[in-house]
Amino acid sequence: MCGIFGCILDGGDRAAPIIHSALNQLEYRGYDSVGEATIHSGHLYVKKDVGKISEVHSSVNLDDMPGSVGIGHTRWATHGAPTQKNAHPHTDCQEKIALVHNGIIQNFAELRKELEGRGHLFKSNTDTEVMPHLIEDYFKEGLSFSESVRRALLRVKGSYAIAAISVDDPNTIICARKESPLVIGVGKSANYLASDIPAFLPMTKMVLFLEEEEMAVLKRDEVTIFNIGSGDQTKRDPMRIEWTVEMAQKGGKPHFMLKEIAEQPLALQNALRGELIYYNLMATILAKARNIILLACGTSSHACIVATYLFSKLAHVNSSVSIASEFMEQFGNSVDEGTVVLAVSQSGETADTLSAIRSAKDKGATILGITNVMGSSLTRLASVYIGQNSGPEIAVAATKTFTSQVLILSKLAIALAEKRGTIRSDEIDSLMTDLGRIPWYVKKELESNDEKIKRLAAKYRDRFSFCFLGRGLNVATALEGRLKLLELAYTPSLAYSAGESKHGFIALVNENYPVIFIAPNDDLKSRLIGNIMEMKARGADIIAITEEKDKELQTLADDWIEVPKGINPLFTPIVYAIPLQLFAYHVSVMRGHDPDRPRNLAKSVTVE
Ligand code: AGP
Repeated sequence: MCGIFGCILDGGDRAAPIIHSALNQLEYRGYDSVGEATIHSGHLYVKKDVGKISEVHSSVNLDDMPGSVGIGHTRWATHGAPTQKNAHPHTDCQEKIALVHNGIIQNFAELRKELEGRGHLFKSNTDTEVMPHLIEDYFKEGLSFSESVRRALLRVKGSYAIAAISVDDPNTIICARKESPLVIGVGKSANYLASDIPAFLPMTKMVLFLEEEEMAVLKRDEVTIFNIGSGDQTKRDPMRIEWTVEMAQKGGKPHFMLKEIAEQPLALQNALRGELIYYNLMATILAKARNIILLACGTSSHACIVATYLFSKLAHVNSSVSIASEFMEQFGNSVDEGTVVLAVSQSGETADTLSAIRSAKDKGATILGITNVMGSSLTRLASVYIGQNSGPEIAVAATKTFTSQVLILSKLAIALAEKRGTIRSDEIDSLMTDLGRIPWYVKKELESNDEKIKRLAAKYRDRFSFCFLGRGLNVATALEGRLKLLELAYTPSLAYSAGESKHGFIALVNENYPVIFIAPNDDLKSRLIGNIMEMKARGADIIAITEEKDKELQTLADDWIEVPKGINPLFTPIVYAIPLQLFAYHVSVMRGHDPDRPRNLAKSVTVE
């Protein structure tokens, strides 16, 4: 996730200071590098560098650029490390076209090869740079600037929100979107575009929402919208938004956590877009390992638990999870050159995880990483890493970063199975198809469940304690549901493998003790029903997360939340975790807490 902005102002006004202040409003979307481009008297001016906006501004003065037309970008690196040359805007060979982008271009490698074959010179390692070069070629063929952009967009696969300017059409900005957000602000003799409304809210409250696969041509006095595929024009009136800047940053939601929960379909889609080459590399290293340890803290360790089940089920590989702060005590003496440590950390900066990685490295282990922050310490310590592409997560509680980690680990398990030849190629294809459908299931689930979960939260909000039970892969989901409730609502809670619950936990159960069962319609359901009966017999209140219309479970439960039918049982933790995130969120709010900033916790725990 990055932030993009563009403005075309009245001739006398300078764009650069407006872009700079707009980027400040978008910095929550990414903050590893920043850049601006403006047009003035037939020249393109570009300033960009690594660092937070304030740092870059103090070294290059982002306000000091001429021209009333310009674009800007605040970056959250996906392709290419956070460096000066990878910062946006990116330009064509002749430095006449500048473009900013939020999203991921999947086919950039083949397009780059093709463009280099035609003599284009690339200056960065980003996926984005193919676009100004493609536009340059179409423009040379004699097409208009807007048609050149449209044709370029037809060549790229993936997600994008882009804005482009050209010295050959200096009174125009072209912007477009597919799967990444983009809104247009309509002013008086001035128009704006941005990833998010807060960027232009001080200038205008009149907003035009671009739909999927639409582009817009911005002039000072008009905005024209086109469908990218057909090139047909679409008419749409702007609407007035009454949001404050703070409300707008949260996408109109009361908290970042709720916004981030709602972002999961897109975050998962972006997680799926990770390049296969890194999965193959990791799978090759894992396949040769004598000993595999998955290393993490908190929520990330729950994603690792899911991975151990999948590595075994699909690739017949044994692995263990180590909580990073215990790693050296637990495994220190058995780590050697044959050990592969797969560290999972959304921030890539958790001190316990980094310290364990360094100790493992000293003992000769190979380090692999999964993280949401490119350029983080984890990306520097790992031999191979995969970026989550979830975009920044502001709320302390991990939500979209957790489900993305599970999805990436699932894809890695499939790659490992393929490498080891433990599943047939038709099974691999079908697993990949099932995994590819997960963002759709999550979208469907989010559309239908929130009100019901809110009612359940109101009913159970004052219970003293909860227990979460699941079987198989969904033991991890139970642990994650408990962690969310603990950290957000401060409710002492337990989580167990349902089978293990009779070895101790059951002593706690009495009349109306709430037990939440993660209960997909899989091979383990009949045994889980046995556990439900044990709890029911002792008077527990049963809340079940079930498949849609699972009457067998729903007649046993006091309350239930439905999850869409048809999810491959191997990928249920991703979808079944989401009602638990929402439940914890609503209980927290109803108990008067701030779910974005739970007490005593930090987003990134940088002390051991
Ligand atoms: C999750 O909601 C928590 N905020 C916490 O457990 C977190 O997952 C843990 O601190 C690990 O963070 P990391 O993924 O950035 O390493």
